[in-house]
Amino acid sequence: MKTGFPENFLWGGAMASSQAEGGWDQGGKGLDTQDLRYFDPAWTREERAKKENRRMSDAKFRAALTTDDTVHYPFRHGIDFYHRWREDLDLFQELGIKVLRTSLCWARIYPNGDDPTPNEEGLRFYCDLFDECHRRGIKVFATMLHYNIPVNLVQKYGGWKSRKTVECYLRYTRTLFERLGDRVDYWLPFNEFNAGKFNPYNGVCLVEDQESDYQNAIFQCLHNQFIANALTVKQGHEILPGSKIGGMIARFTTYPATCKPDDVMQMILDDQYSNWFYLDVMARGHYPAYMDRYFAQQGIHIQMEPGDADILRENTIAFVSFSYYFSQVSTTDQGWEKTSGNLIMANKNPYLETSEWGWQKDPVGLRVTLNQVYDRYQLPVFIAENGLGAKDVVEEDGSIHDPYRIDYLKAHVEQMKEAVKDGVDLIGYTMWGFIDLVSCGSMEMSKRYGVIYVDQDDAGHGTLARSRKDSFYWYQRCIRSNGETLD
Ligand code: BG6
Repeated sequence: MKTGFPENFLWGGAMASSQAEGGWDQGGKGLDTQDLRYFDPAWTREERAKKENRRMSDAKFRAALTTDDTVHYPFRHGIDFYHRWREDLDLFQELGIKVLRTSLCWARIYPNGDDPTPNEEGLRFYCDLFDECHRRGIKVFATMLHYNIPVNLVQKYGGWKSRKTVECYLRYTRTLFERLGDRVDYWLPFNEFNAGKFNPYNGVCLVEDQESDYQNAIFQCLHNQFIANALTVKQGHEILPGSKIGGMIARFTTYPATCKPDDVMQMILDDQYSNWFYLDVMARGHYPAYMDRYFAQQGIHIQMEPGDADILRENTIAFVSFSYYFSQVSTTDQGWEKTSGNLIMANKNPYLETSEWGWQKDPVGLRVTLNQVYDRYQLPVFIAENGLGAKDVVEEDGSIHDPYRIDYLKAHVEQMKEAVKDGVDLIGYTMWGFIDLVSCGSMEMSKRYGVIYVDQDDAGHGTLARSRKDSFYWYQRCIRSNGETLD
């Protein structure tokens, strides 16, 4: 029996280009889809949560193309990592992380997505960043796409609806393997594959009111992404034999709301449709049979090309990863109380407490998830995201006391350890937003995940100075002791 984390366990931190970098119009970068998301710092908490304020519309899309405002477009400034990354790495090194998970910005490398040659300045940014990580003993876990694609691909090809976008993506990934291959330790072609279904603008870059058959378009895009994913795996293995390329979902762990058999069946269906479908295609190499029934019921018709089934079968992922923030329950009771969750509205579990944003905190659910995922695929597992979004208060002396974050992280690490004892081959943990970032869902700064504080408010005002929260020292001790010292 294993008694603790493996010696080479990859403790780390995760972030994404659009939420961190800024420099939206610098270094030859093209406009990308996250640069167009509108936010009003004056919105109330309720307005921030409203679906229509989060959703991209044709009108919002067009208006964003004509402005260089950054206050209402927070992904344009991020936390200015583009200019501050060297000093940030000093803090990352002090924290002791073994691996940095970040995404590359496609539009920084191919500004229009379909350019014949890459932007050398964009490539240099990532070469320098990853070289410096390695010089400091930090491995690199690179997400090739974390939502933001060049806007030109949406305008010209309808985003992921077209195989032309797959072709452009493969030109981009080829460049990454060829030019950055020796600087990357783990690859992830797509962040949270199921985001395409639950947040189609982020995941598959569809603008809802530009589509005549939105649901069908979503699944067509997802199919094209599955093909892109498999062909990226193929390409990676050809260019860099032995490269480690994984697949990721946002894990919506779910329990039956009651032991009523209908609720149990509902849980199985929710799990298949929301979670397993995506990992099954990437890890098992084919569309699962349960989706035939779903597609028939929903009137979904995916256009596949000859050879697609072979592509999926021959190019499966080498490790499984997921983000895990909360759990929910499944029920046939339409009136069941709801609460928020990452990407979805969730059914409430009376046994769990929620975060300030309504996400249900469930550390044991992480152990459940790890066991489920490992049982199903028998592949190494990497927790690519986990953390607590909360409001922090800076004291007069500059200190930030965040026991709520420490409690959350501690409880989750304890359950990870239990899962390792259960026999799960857990290889890494990259805490989400270990440095405060612009929130992906609500686009605000006030929802902070970091153990490193960034002095910036929702309107983008502040010195951008970084400082250590109490949780910084907690995570540092956790890493130093390889998960043994959690107090
Ligand atoms: C994940 C995303 O869905 O959740 C991240 O991959 C995101 O980009 C994270 O930031 C937390 O969500 P939010 O909406 O609180 O930022």
